Amino acid sequence: MSEASNYLLSHQARARWMRFDTAQLLKRFFFCERSLLVSQAAWIPLIAPLDVKIGMARMIWQSAETAHALRERVFELRFPSRILEEEGSDHALITVLDAVKDSPNAAAFLLAMAQVFLPALRDSYRDYLEASDPIADGPTHRFLSLALAEKQEQAAAFAKWAEDAIGNDPSLRAESVAWARMLAGEISALGGIGISESCLVEKEPQLLGRKPYAVPDRPARDPQFARCRFYWPDVLDPSFSYGEGMQLQLRSAISHLNEVWAIEAAGVILSAFADTLPWEWIHNAARWTYDESRHCQMGFERLMSWNLDPREIPLGTYIYDSASGQDPIYRLGMLYFFETKNIRHKPERAQLFHSYGDMLSKHDMDFDWADETIHAGYGKHWLKEILRLRGQNASAYEVVREKCGELVSDYVRTATPKEISEIKRIAAALTEKARRNNLAG
Ligand SMILES: [Fe+2]
Ligand SMILES: [Fe+2]
Repeated sequence: MSEASNYLLSHQARARWMRFDTAQLLKRFFFCERSLLVSQAAWIPLIAPLDVKIGMARMIWQSAETAHALRERVFELRFPSRILEEEGSDHALITVLDAVKDSPNAAAFLLAMAQVFLPALRDSYRDYLEASDPIADGPTHRFLSLALAEKQEQAAAFAKWAEDAIGNDPSLRAESVAWARMLAGEISALGGIGISESCLVEKEPQLLGRKPYAVPDRPARDPQFARCRFYWPDVLDPSFSYGEGMQLQLRSAISHLNEVWAIEAAGVILSAFADTLPWEWIHNAARWTYDESRHCQMGFERLMSWNLDPREIPLGTYIYDSASGQDPIYRLGMLYFFETKNIRHKPERAQLFHSYGDMLSKHDMDFDWADETIHAGYGKHWLKEILRLRGQNASAYEVVREKCGELVSDYVRTATPKEISEIKRIAAALTEKARRNNLAG
């Protein structure tokens, strides 16, 4: 028999972690999610397959939602402190996670996410849910259970993407495997992400084989499409009408699909300003990235529903290209420029689609409009914030917007006669194909 006590004692597993221990672990998870989502955002333009860009954009948003909930929960547990200081004792761990941004190639990036980081975070969430108290820490259990399900799905998706990337270019295998192995070794030397106290390390991780990340000047594009710079004749020739009827239906779907540039721009700026702007920036930019991926997917799905073939569908790069080599504020400016320029047409086009009985185009345009109103707010707010941080006049955000218009016009002027005739041919062939499919019913 154990020694008697004058007090009521019971050894319950649920008393394992006190309030501050819990906050410490959740803070570690926050920094892990933040690090991985920033790297994923940075990599969107470097990865070619459209479904991977779209899938990653959704996962970035999921991670940002989880990180946001973690952050709020840490504040609750540490009340009244609203300060989430640096990684602290998890600094070395986060340094290893951050390194995935410097992956030597796209397959290596996908493989490291699939084999090292996503499984580590998934297992830590599972262990946390098993070891923590579902009564005292119930609020965490709700969102972390969802995060665990999402991490399982993310790890499986990345595993497939990595396998495809290596399958498409087997010469990347050796480097990718070595990279993932090195990262796995470094993270396990630190005790993994886990749910134990972080071990204090004296020396910085080694991280051999890093290739410092740089924003690409040209985005990678899915080879299954008709790749080009300028994706419809009206981009180059103002006399070429946006069209009505079937022309408008097609043009609008092409526009939506080509919002692939907006996914890339949002990803690049999320990462570019992650360390200068507050957390709310990352949270907003993740939603922005995801929304643009949904618009792109809407266009793709509509084009597929009309039995068109990706090989005949133009996928361009000119808006992304126009901001290359510039301060990243112009990528933010590009989003703001196009969103504020085009938003007024949307309700009127939704109305036209309604009159054609095309409820799918109407539906997509309608939801798109709601997202774009949110984005116009993001654009203005964050452009002003960046200018303010740089000691410039916040009202100069309109100057940034104007310069974006000029950058695009200058870039459009580089179109060659061959590109002009080629995009006219592609557009005419696609319209003809849509007409024939429609007649064939
Ligand atoms: Fe959009
Ligand atoms: Fe948008």
